[in-house]
Amino acid sequence: MIYLNDEEYVVCRKKQVEIFSFSGKPVPLVIKTIEWTPDQMEKGGYQHFMLKEIYEQGQAVSNTLENKIDHVQGIVNIPELAPHFEKLKQVSSISIVACGTARHAALVGKYYLEKFARVAADVDFGSEFRYRDPILNPKSWTLLISQSGETADTLAAQKESKLKGVPSLAICNVRESTLARESDVVIYTQAGPEIGVASTKAFTTQLVVLYLFAVQLGLLKGSLSEQQARELTSEVQKLPFLIENTLAMESKIEKLCTQLQKKNFFFFLGRDVNYPIALEGSLKLKEISYAHAEGYPAGEIKHGPIALIEKQVATLILSPQALSTEINPDPMSAVIYEKMMSNLQEIKSRGGMILSIGSGEDKKLQDQSDYYLGIPKTTWALNPILLTLPLQMIAYHIAVGRGTDVDKPRNLAKSVTVE
Ligand code: G6P
Repeated sequence: MIYLNDEEYVVCRKKQVEIFSFSGKPVPLVIKTIEWTPDQMEKGGYQHFMLKEIYEQGQAVSNTLENKIDHVQGIVNIPELAPHFEKLKQVSSISIVACGTARHAALVGKYYLEKFARVAADVDFGSEFRYRDPILNPKSWTLLISQSGETADTLAAQKESKLKGVPSLAICNVRESTLARESDVVIYTQAGPEIGVASTKAFTTQLVVLYLFAVQLGLLKGSLSEQQARELTSEVQKLPFLIENTLAMESKIEKLCTQLQKKNFFFFLGRDVNYPIALEGSLKLKEISYAHAEGYPAGEIKHGPIALIEKQVATLILSPQALSTEINPDPMSAVIYEKMMSNLQEIKSRGGMILSIGSGEDKKLQDQSDYYLGIPKTTWALNPILLTLPLQMIAYHIAVGRGTDVDKPRNLAKSVTVE
């Protein structure tokens, strides 16, 4: 007998599975076919599920984009949102709630929503949202992000927003999950099954859905012109190809990690839309390698963390440049780039080791760093997605080097169903 939730339980017999309510009444079973294939549940020649899932990201992103773009018009069109267009035109603020890696996607989503749709967005931890009595008005929406759709804290936040009468939109990877069933609208990421505990392809596909949602909302609210939305749509369609190119640096990363893994403390620094990726890079590393790691907005290190810098510390500087686009002709990249450069100098002068990740062959950054990795040059909004890939591979190779259980790290669960 297995408890399903606080109302029902399952009885598994040799040839029969039945569900009963606590009062003993049988609950009718509805048969649904899962689209995931058995091959997707195998390692397919990879040493770990995590590595396989890192390599599946190009395909996962391509599948996620597939039905959310009007390919004739060349513009974002998310069918799940169509019945809610009128209501979405009125939205004044969005509270994004999630846990763990999904919360880092939420933080990037805030930048997208504010830039493309000019809608105020705040981001909360699932475990905190309901305790602060959030101020939600009739034009607010709650956006819940979860790979599994079963994270107890995220579900509790959804319950809270329901109590306040606010519509909920979920970004979720698992069909028929509790979150998907309970939400007013669901947009699915098409990542396929994610088995490694450390989230990889679910995260990048969440970023893609957030990007598309922000563009759709921008169009509805008139903060983006059709021309701008078309350009953003065309850029995001290049992503699967850019992902494949970025993943090609794995052997370089593997070599580099033989040096990196000797360090006992790691800082990840980024600014603006790349700051949440510093958080995600550090979370990935600590989850699977058990190394002590911190992600920070680079401008904050002078307010305390810089005291920790010494020879044994490795700092990862995330400093890509951005292609200019119509919506973002000067994505402040020049100003931010220079500020990242002075953060780099501050760390260098204190003896810390530096690995920088920039765009393409960035000679200047390369010359100032102990190690350098270049991701393909892309737009402001797509940089966070490409930056994530080397950070996933760094976490993976450091963990392998340290001999940890990559797919099932100690003390962690894929889905945390208790509050
Ligand atoms: C657990 C996992 C994390 C995940 C978080 C949220 O803590 O170990 O990798 O990010 O739950 O999971 P969700 O399914 O809600 O995205």
